Amino acid sequence: MDDLTPLRQLWLDRINSATDPAAIEEVRLAALGKKGEISLKMRELGKMTPEERQTIGRSLNELRDEIDAALRARKLSLEDAALEARLAEEWLDVTLPGRPRPRGTIHPISQVTEEITEIFADMGFAVAEGPQVESDWYNFDALNIAPEHPARQEHDTFFMHREPGDDRPPHVLRTHTSPVQIRAMQDQGAPIRVIAPGRVYRMDMDQTHTPMFHQIEGLAIGRDISMAQLKWTLEEFCRAFFEVDEVELRFRASHFPFTEPSAEVDIRCSWEGGQLKVGQGDSWLEILGSGMVHPHVLRSAGINPDEWQGFAFGIGIDRLAMLKYGIPDLRAFFESDLRWLRNYGFAAGDTPSLSGGLSA
Ligand code: DAH
Repeated sequence: MDDLTPLRQLWLDRINSATDPAAIEEVRLAALGKKGEISLKMRELGKMTPEERQTIGRSLNELRDEIDAALRARKLSLEDAALEARLAEEWLDVTLPGRPRPRGTIHPISQVTEEITEIFADMGFAVAEGPQVESDWYNFDALNIAPEHPARQEHDTFFMHREPGDDRPPHVLRTHTSPVQIRAMQDQGAPIRVIAPGRVYRMDMDQTHTPMFHQIEGLAIGRDISMAQLKWTLEEFCRAFFEVDEVELRFRASHFPFTEPSAEVDIRCSWEGGQLKVGQGDSWLEILGSGMVHPHVLRSAGINPDEWQGFAFGIGIDRLAMLKYGIPDLRAFFESDLRWLRNYGFAAGDTPSLSGGLSA
């Protein structure tokens, strides 16, 4: 049979001129594929005499192995070259200085909410939640605020829009966190000890009021929970929150429809040199509303007031944040001014804890 040298040269040339993996594969199929030239030649061996087969068969086998090896080698070197090219293109100078990333901070309201939550969690209060768009039954009626009650006007309520003919119950943006008391008692029954931090809304805007602000509600119901326990709880809270050893609270008789008796609570402080100091001085600062939960409120939450009683309180979070961190204008909380946030914000890793220091 004919000399295989030209054939060998032809295929080796083709292999060497292939410049990418797809071209290599094409050459492989044309040579060694089922209908490839070399494969067909090997099939012809069957028609030869045994002597021819012995010599030509061996040469063909060698040729096939050589082509196969050349294909693999070429493929490898193409892959290496591609990798080299990519590495050359994508190099990275690890000695360059890092680019500083914009650093976020924890908003003082979030920080203070976590501080307060931590303190009450330590006293056994769980966190409860309710919706910000609330039915007026939860926001008012269930809390013993009847439709004609003047408190409905005082709350400067935002009402949700209703189409004429819409007979679903009216909804409002909740004006306080007190409706969460009702939801928590309905869900969990008594005894119960919860706090409910969250956003509340009233139509009001000046240096000490914003239309959205934050409250934290507290509720403790048991068989014999008393006003004395309310006082102790609030004193413990203030000591921990303001991080002072001595605090003095003053309970002032007040009126809330959902508590009886009701008290507003002031804390002793001084304003010497414009600087607020809690625990000493001749001034009093109002910090929260509280009282013993009204029997009507217990009843509307499905709890028998002959068996259960307890206290509730509502604290303005924004107010406490201003006091603790010396922030003069409430409106700054909601302006998203980066310089303000960097100044008053807290580092992301600082989780308030009683053992590690609340605001350390
Ligand atoms: N809900 C009241 C308000 O927004 C605050 C309040 C007062 C809550 C007395 C209470 C409470 O739970 O007992 O003005």
